[in-house]
Amino acid sequence: MNSLNIIEEKRQGIQLKLDSLKTRLERNKLGQFSTPIELSNSILSYTKHFFHKDSKITFLDPAIGTGSFYSALLKNFPLNKIDSATGYEIDLHYALESKELWRESKLDYRIDDFCKAEISSNEKYNLIVCNPPYVRHHHLNGQKKVLQENAVKSSNIKLSSLAGLYCYFVAISHKWLDSDGIGVWLIPSEFMDVNYGKEIKNYLLNKVELIQIHRFAPEDIQFTDALVSSAIVIIRNKKPTTDYQVNFSFGGNIETPLMSNSIKRSDLEKESKWTRFPQKNVRDSSNHSMLSDFFAIKRGIATGDNSFFILAKEEINRLNLPLEHFRPILPSPRYLKETEILSDENRNPIIEQKLFVLDCKLSLTEIEGRYPSLYSYIQTGIEKGVSNRYLCKNRKIWYAQENRESSSFYCTYIGRSNSKNKNTFRFILNHSDSIVSNSYLILNPKDKLKSFLSENIENKRLIYDALNSILDSQLLDEGRVYGGGMHKIEPRELSKVNADVIRNILK
Ligand SMILES: C[S@@+](CC[C@H](N)C(=O)[O-])C[C@H]1O[C@@H](n2cnc3c(N)ncnc32)[C@H](O)[C@@H]1O
Repeated sequence: MNSLNIIEEKRQGIQLKLDSLKTRLERNKLGQFSTPIELSNSILSYTKHFFHKDSKITFLDPAIGTGSFYSALLKNFPLNKIDSATGYEIDLHYALESKELWRESKLDYRIDDFCKAEISSNEKYNLIVCNPPYVRHHHLNGQKKVLQENAVKSSNIKLSSLAGLYCYFVAISHKWLDSDGIGVWLIPSEFMDVNYGKEIKNYLLNKVELIQIHRFAPEDIQFTDALVSSAIVIIRNKKPTTDYQVNFSFGGNIETPLMSNSIKRSDLEKESKWTRFPQKNVRDSSNHSMLSDFFAIKRGIATGDNSFFILAKEEINRLNLPLEHFRPILPSPRYLKETEILSDENRNPIIEQKLFVLDCKLSLTEIEGRYPSLYSYIQTGIEKGVSNRYLCKNRKIWYAQENRESSSFYCTYIGRSNSKNKNTFRFILNHSDSIVSNSYLILNPKDKLKSFLSENIENKRLIYDALNSILDSQLLDEGRVYGGGMHKIEPRELSKVNADVIRNILK
């Protein structure tokens, strides 16, 4: 075994040992999921093609961990081509042993927070390869202000407060990348579709040259222990002057993708959902209708504690609670078999699981006088701390729900694309007064559709059939995908779905 293989074997041993000494929660906090060596090798082997054979490499990994990318650099580039190599690691737990491991190599292993590190004059790198920590924005509290300032200083990117830590790594690294230098980012593909990714996409299109985005198939999770779908983004630090083609590849690995296609930079400027590429072509954005022309779309209600607020009819009877202070609510999509919800004489749904949500606008004193049983039930909520939950305590009356009208049309919010022959999202036609929880979206007809619907019940069915005729792929195009093949569609995204089928009916 050569010395490189020996040290790589040792590194993997250290990685396993150090990972096992931390809980999953601890590793989540700093996004500590090591990059599999096969993936690092395939990235570094691919990266070679962006350098002239005589170029000398100055390498930086801003989140180096035990050094999977550095190990792959040594394997894929001749030693005499590597001029310098630097790595940053914030956590002593990984840093101490890793620094020791690489002590006799060229690597300058720095134990520091990369996002706050000072760059010395003349310090630039022509190859940055990084798998930054995937830490979501709500775990960045307390650091966001400094991160945002440093991102602006380095690259003038003003990141949204919803951006995850990996976006800050991309932004802050900009000033470390030499002109014409190559940046390779292994990051969640989420930025390609969601709102907080806009600033990153703008950076990729306007401040540097975007060479390639390779997206792994969502079912093919790169890190056995982190549930995200990943992409490799390759850039060159060169301001674009003309339009050019960006290579989008998908599936397999970056060296042998399952498919690829070139998309013009000017087309990417217009498209908000980049994960459609390379499987699909540039969208025709000509004059078509959108669902928002016919519906106001909102999420269903967030109760703050479904187990306290949502009760089965039998339970309400058993506790002798007044049904008039409850509203019918559909069970979560998992438990709803019906796609058309019929209604009984009280406008309650005729379905197997009859559920009701507490929604009472009376004061506690009034309740105490008029409904002692409801009063005691509410007291149990106070004792269990339900009234103190974030959503509840921010409501005017903690046991009254947001005002949401029931609607004739709902759509499920989450779905899986890998279930055979089934659409990822389901539309529901509702004839009852049932409202829905936030596992659904509510489609409230706007005026021009409302009058059509009021003509007769068949019109409702026509519109429902039209919604169902929208292709699954059109919904997936607007929604977002997560690791493991899970899809979500937000109200704003569903609003943008092509609705020419409805326009044609109203014509
Ligand atoms: C996704 S892992 C990448 C590991 C590395 N590619 C490997 O496999 O050896 C991210 C690493 O970044 C480190 N990290 C998190 N925040 C950091 C920061 N602000 N500065 C430097 N390193 C950081 C974590 O401790 C973790 O080791």
